[in-house]
Amino acid sequence: MPDPNATESMLTETRRFAPPADFAARAHVKSMAQYETLHARSIAEPEAFWSEVASELHWFKPWDTVLEWNLPDAKWFVGAQTNLCYNCIDRQVDAGLGDKVAIVWEGEAVGDGPGGGPEVLKLTYHDLLGRVSRFANVLKARGVKKGDVVTLYMGMVPELAVAMLACARIGAVHSVIFGGFSAQAICDRVEDGKSKLLITCDGSWRRGKVVPLKANVDQALTMTDRVKDVIVFNRCNAGVPMIDGRDHDWQTLVDAAPADCPAEPMDAEDLLFILYTSGSTGKPKGIMHTTGGYMVHTYLTAKLTFDLKADDPDELYWCTADCGWITGHSYILYGLLPNRCATLMFEGGPNHPAPDRFWDIIERHKVTKFYTAPTAIRAFMKWGDEHVEKHDLSSLKVLGTVGEPINPEAWVWYHEKIGGGRCPIVDTWWQTETGGHMLTPLPGATTTTPGSCCRPMLGIDMAVVNSDGQEVPNNTGGILVCRKPWPGMLRGIYGDRGRFVETYWSKVPGMYCPADGARIDPDGNFWITGRIDDVIVVAGHNLGTMEVESALVSHRAVAEAAVVGFPHEVKGTGVAAFVITQGELPEPGSDAAEQLKKQLIAHCGQELGPIAKPDQVRLTTALPKTRSGKIMRRLLRDIAAGHEITSDVSTLEDKGIVETLQRG
Ligand code: PRX
Repeated sequence: MPDPNATESMLTETRRFAPPADFAARAHVKSMAQYETLHARSIAEPEAFWSEVASELHWFKPWDTVLEWNLPDAKWFVGAQTNLCYNCIDRQVDAGLGDKVAIVWEGEAVGDGPGGGPEVLKLTYHDLLGRVSRFANVLKARGVKKGDVVTLYMGMVPELAVAMLACARIGAVHSVIFGGFSAQAICDRVEDGKSKLLITCDGSWRRGKVVPLKANVDQALTMTDRVKDVIVFNRCNAGVPMIDGRDHDWQTLVDAAPADCPAEPMDAEDLLFILYTSGSTGKPKGIMHTTGGYMVHTYLTAKLTFDLKADDPDELYWCTADCGWITGHSYILYGLLPNRCATLMFEGGPNHPAPDRFWDIIERHKVTKFYTAPTAIRAFMKWGDEHVEKHDLSSLKVLGTVGEPINPEAWVWYHEKIGGGRCPIVDTWWQTETGGHMLTPLPGATTTTPGSCCRPMLGIDMAVVNSDGQEVPNNTGGILVCRKPWPGMLRGIYGDRGRFVETYWSKVPGMYCPADGARIDPDGNFWITGRIDDVIVVAGHNLGTMEVESALVSHRAVAEAAVVGFPHEVKGTGVAAFVITQGELPEPGSDAAEQLKKQLIAHCGQELGPIAKPDQVRLTTALPKTRSGKIMRRLLRDIAAGHEITSDVSTLEDKGIVETLQRG
């Protein structure tokens, strides 16, 4: 259960921010009263509501039934056929909008473009149709068929979007792996998805350095022989070795491919993609999303949450996430393109070549809607206001945050410094599993309170309950649930039905349980109080504490490990590892101890990727366990946070251990 004390600091934030009247007047949803009416109707008549939304998109064949619900299995738009790639591209071209810009891409390096600026590429819907069709033909020529899993491990280049859309066009299931993950993670995901084709880049640019993507793939493929073909896009001229017969150059294949490739009509419930996310056990879960429902949910939520205006020629939306995460899937590509709005993709990091890179991009491209993570906002605050103040950010209209709770101080800074006090902020709560937004303000309607993700999206029935499923009173901590199925919901965990049922549908009878704690304030606004399982959210990314523990114990110097989160100034939550060493414990503070800690941090980076690198490592001879053998994680959390020990240590077998752990 969530710790009710965790809500205390949030309760002190009472400032309210109403949407500016001129913004509200032109918004899709203009007032709280209108939201309440629409929401009530969407919950009372979900099938009518969702079918009206779906009717705004293209279907090869309409549905016979909107929803078939046999808990925990939902089928949306049963009998219908559609294609998400068609809705992202062809629908716009068919409507005569082929010359409208679909994707604005900016490369990381400054000086590569004409006139010494960064490299910028603008792809119209027509351009995108050509590129995606050709690449779809490349996939077909390599034997990829409807339902096959294709693995993507690329940097943020336009070809990543092209590859995703090409998969969707021919009905292949993409499994995108974030470019920061390690060879082991690639191998595990390839094996789990039984993927025979992998698409990568020679490398990707990150803060002026080349991340060796192809080398990681080569290493991964020494551990599995599943992959028969690797397509390599040359981004960095890294001159990577190519294996004859297995590795193929992207451009050579594309140049030889025919230009025309009609979109495959897909059943609404055909698998669209799998995307791995961390869970309470060591093994990541391949979250499954299907075609029709995911399309309708991401389309509606992108439109309402960001108040997207298809008919505004200046509308330019930018989400700073990587396509390797759900945020990039849903809110760089799939929710955006069907809304006929231009979406910006940026290749690099926020501080390259200088800490004002994001604000420079917003000013140069005149970005109107901006979506980023609280961790990034906290980093910007640290780097100093002068980097922001140099730039004209007056094009901005809506600011969004995602991935983790935002502390009120960061919210207010974002509102004032980035939004000039005039842009509504949408703090969006959702998950890889939910496909799209579940709780969020609507920018023209909701009066926001910093730190709260406010209200359920239209069509979404969220509540805070006890373990029997009964709603808890206002301002009481409880379990966040969704009581009704929604179109973008996950359809399962790839290859693991039992884990799907156990993880999401067994904690509270009859309801979807995302494993977050929450409370609702007297105004009806939701506040997320933290995870209620062994997942920690580090810099906006899910990390299973068990995954890190498994990585640590795979090091020869480690006998046992326990990992917990602790409050971190920038990342929200940091990773603390408590490690029992094999053999003698090095003297605390000695060179040997410091050396070992560094090795263990690097080892986690290698095994899982940089996100999993512990911020603290404490070496010990034992872990605090109760007499029944359970690790006292609460005590470890207190030690990691440097708090006074409040846990009851009376059941601890070896009381001296606390001091050892504190010295670390
Ligand atoms: O704990 C919640 C937190 O991130 C988890 C989902 O992580 P992931 O599947 O990686 O998706 C991240 C991007 C959608 C949630 O269970 N979380 C996400 N958004 C918020 C949040 N916590 C508080 N406030 C949010 N706005």
